[in-house]
Amino acid sequence: MKNIVITGGAGFIGSHVVRLFVNKYPEYKIICLDKLTYAGNLENLKDVEKAPNYKFVRMDICDFEAFYKLMQDEQIDGIIHLAAESHVDRSIKDPFTFARTNVMGTLSLLQAAKLYWESLPEKYEGKRFYHISTDEVYGALEMTHPEGIPAPFSTVASASGEAHAAYGEEFFVETTKYMPHSPYSASKASSDHFVRAYHDTYGMPTIVTNCSNNYGPYQFPEKLIPLFINNIRHRKPLPVYGKGENVRDWLFVEDHARAIDVIFHRGTIAETYNIGGFNEWKNIDIIKVVIKTVDRLLGRKEGEDMNLITYVTDRLGHDARYAIDSRKLQRELGWEPSLQFEEGIEKTVRWYLDNQEWMDRITSGEYEKYYEDMYKGR
Ligand code: NAD
Ligand code: TYD
Repeated sequence: MKNIVITGGAGFIGSHVVRLFVNKYPEYKIICLDKLTYAGNLENLKDVEKAPNYKFVRMDICDFEAFYKLMQDEQIDGIIHLAAESHVDRSIKDPFTFARTNVMGTLSLLQAAKLYWESLPEKYEGKRFYHISTDEVYGALEMTHPEGIPAPFSTVASASGEAHAAYGEEFFVETTKYMPHSPYSASKASSDHFVRAYHDTYGMPTIVTNCSNNYGPYQFPEKLIPLFINNIRHRKPLPVYGKGENVRDWLFVEDHARAIDVIFHRGTIAETYNIGGFNEWKNIDIIKVVIKTVDRLLGRKEGEDMNLITYVTDRLGHDARYAIDSRKLQRELGWEPSLQFEEGIEKTVRWYLDNQEWMDRITSGEYEKYYEDMYKGR
């Protein structure tokens, strides 16, 4: 595979995947395809935008004709599909947009890829459609151990032995039944089913991965960690949903990007891989770590901003606990997370504080002009 489209490449995770592929594979042509919704930010890719193997195309994944033409013109043989509406709170307010992009957009890409690849003499040989999904499709796990089972857990241990704690005995595995609760996860579940259906029905070489919550540089500041870092910096309230007891399993975004690279090149067709770092945290505990880290790095008294914590009405249908068992990926493809969480959080907070202009251009809306200024007419 040489000509690769990465959809959603101007978003948070997509920009890390584009950067990794552009730098690591100079022999590939990497096409970053993105509609540039509010979540798309080409400033995330400033450091690779002049690379000879990088190209940006502004396109809506729902535009079947345009994508089919792009496949033909660029002779695409690999698709890494990350474009999506990704924020649960927005999906609760506006589910239609999620169904349109996540379900219809994915279906549109699948159908265009099918028509193009089936028109070639070699058909699906050497082709790949890799769909990036979330652990949220599996629903929620119970918090059977609210105080946490220290690592190594009784039933599951990370191959690297660097697990944090578990808040229940159950973990999501690749065969866990789908039971999405939010409109976001319902739309992602539907898209996962369509991808598998294209393999089972037409023989398209597909792969699906389901990853836990990502954190790291370039995340849009509507998500917990960047939103809170920015609020602490400006001493604005930190809205904690419910009691802050919900558990999420956090993975550093560059580790996700590395997993995507490994799976795209070496994963088995039609397989599903769960991606996660055995790193469960209650929201309130993570928030306290973030507050202390920001305070320390800004030269404030560590913990002095704890008073910004503000408990607010819980999110509707708020899933209690996500926890990924990623041992299949570790065992079969040798991938492991590279960073301990404390290291990852330190690196992340430092990045946001060192790149305040990036954040300020988002909050002021300036970032949306970057495409017009830098790309239009190129
Ligand atoms: P993001 O919201 O930061 O980025 C999404 C990107 O998709 C943006 O650049 C946006 O402009 C683009 N996009 C949206 N609608 C589009 C459309 N109709 N056509 C073309 N482009 C469009 O999201 P993210 O956090 O980077 O997530 C990327 C993918 O990874 C998503 O599929 C998400 O479901 C999945 N995922 C995310 C996480 C996480 O923690 N963020 C975890 C697991 C899986
Ligand atoms: P989020 O970053 O939106 O990711 P997801 O909903 O996909 O897990 O939220 C992470 C957790 O933090 C989730 O349990 C909701 C909670 N949360 C808050 O308590 N306050 C906030 O302002 C946000 C955005 C999230």
